[in-house]
Amino acid sequence: MLRVLEGKDYNDMSRIAANMIFAQITLQPGCVLGLATGSTPIGTYNHLVECYKKGDLDFSQVTSVNLDEYRGLNGTNDQSYRYFMNEHLFHHVNIKPENTHVPDGTNPDAVKECGRYDQLIETLGGVDLQLLGLGNNGHIGFNEPDDNFEKGTHCVNLTESTIKANSRFFSSMEEVPTQAYTMGIGNILQAKKILLIVSGTAKADIVRETFTGPITPRVPASILQLHKDVILVGDKAALSKL
Ligand code: GLP
Repeated sequence: MLRVLEGKDYNDMSRIAANMIFAQITLQPGCVLGLATGSTPIGTYNHLVECYKKGDLDFSQVTSVNLDEYRGLNGTNDQSYRYFMNEHLFHHVNIKPENTHVPDGTNPDAVKECGRYDQLIETLGGVDLQLLGLGNNGHIGFNEPDDNFEKGTHCVNLTESTIKANSRFFSSMEEVPTQAYTMGIGNILQAKKILLIVSGTAKADIVRETFTGPITPRVPASILQLHKDVILVGDKAALSKL
């Protein structure tokens, strides 16, 4: 089932999304949060950090598993997703560092690393709430448009359009890694709850395609139509074509 919540702008959308995560942690202090990177969740993380600083939120029993990581990047590299998470959330709240998980981009053995990550998610008992952003081409995590859906954590070749979109964070296109380790569609669908956040006019078409178009691996996020508990939080602009 899909529930749609609209915020008037980016900040309002971020506040609503943070409130959902706030509620999850309050109701289940030892929950497993699936976390995402990209520019969209930054506002959500800022709101959560504020709640923590006010003393309203306690991350001490929370465990997190991130969706993806660039292959080849070390956590100390400021373009890695581990670095992003440390900067935007982990270093500002009382989550235990050992309870934060991101695929290890430095492990050259893709099969081993992806297997380890799937095993980890299983050992944790699965994800209670999965936060997702939406790529311009409908990707979630780094599940790019393809002929079929990949179930488990796997190594992907990033598409030209994703490399281009993500090059805004790098000094040149050549520096953007071309591969990543990402949770698969199966991992994402197994989360008990999914919170998809979208912002801006540029996402309006893909949001409409995701939720009203056919379910196809060509628009990976369209599979979310089959999940029983999806909350879509967006600003007016991103939801304008729904
Ligand atoms: C990246 C991430 C995704 C993210 C997407 C959208 O490629 N791997 O997890 O959802 O970008 O990013 P943004 O929110 O910046 O549009």
